[in-house]
Amino acid sequence: MNQAGLSLLLNRASCGLLQMPAPSGEVLEHILQAGLRAPDHGHLQPFRFLLAEGSGLNRLGTLLADSARADGAGEDVVERATQMPLRAPLVITVVAKVTPHNKVPDFEQHLAAGCAVMAMQMAAQAQGFGGIWRSGPLMYSRKLHELLGLAEQDQIVGFLYLGTPATTLREPSFVNSAEFVRWV
Ligand SMILES: Cc1cc2nc3c(=O)[nH]c(=O)nc-3n(C[C@H](O)[C@H](O)[C@H](O)COP(=O)(O)O)c2cc1C
Repeated sequence: MNQAGLSLLLNRASCGLLQMPAPSGEVLEHILQAGLRAPDHGHLQPFRFLLAEGSGLNRLGTLLADSARADGAGEDVVERATQMPLRAPLVITVVAKVTPHNKVPDFEQHLAAGCAVMAMQMAAQAQGFGGIWRSGPLMYSRKLHELLGLAEQDQIVGFLYLGTPATTLREPSFVNSAEFVRWV
């Protein structure tokens, strides 16, 4: 049995309190490769990873704020949007890059990109880093999609915040699987 692999799956936990350093070099490459190993019907590779760190976090914050303003948000929301990416040293905006396909609906391509988010979070945790999958209404903002250069059919599936945990990871609490299971 691969005890380490099983242990990672059973102990995956998000960390919202993140500090420098961000994963970089070979560690970051492993994270990206883990994302690219997500299940992918038809091998369409419906993944795009938009990375922001350093001044890129400010640029991403400006794009979020501009989108919020264009979508009619109030100034308090716009200001919050500017600050959002600054909660981690690295933010990966994960995009489902959708290829219209007669056998693979858009939904399956969104799922594949979502799997990539979790795979990358786990690869970060496996290497001693931490992260959290965040979303919010701007994920669906056509204005943000346009500012990020996405095509009409593309969809952001998450903002993966990554860095060094500034707190110990929460121990998963026991969940009774029987409450969620029904044999057909
Ligand atoms: C699609 C998706 C979007 C999410 N968006 C947010 C978010 O915007 N803010 C947030 O605090 N948690 C969000 N979460 C939940 C966190 O990623 C995380 O799962 C949650 O805090 C529970 O922690 P755990 O992963 O350690 O169980 C989202 C999860 C998913 C799957």
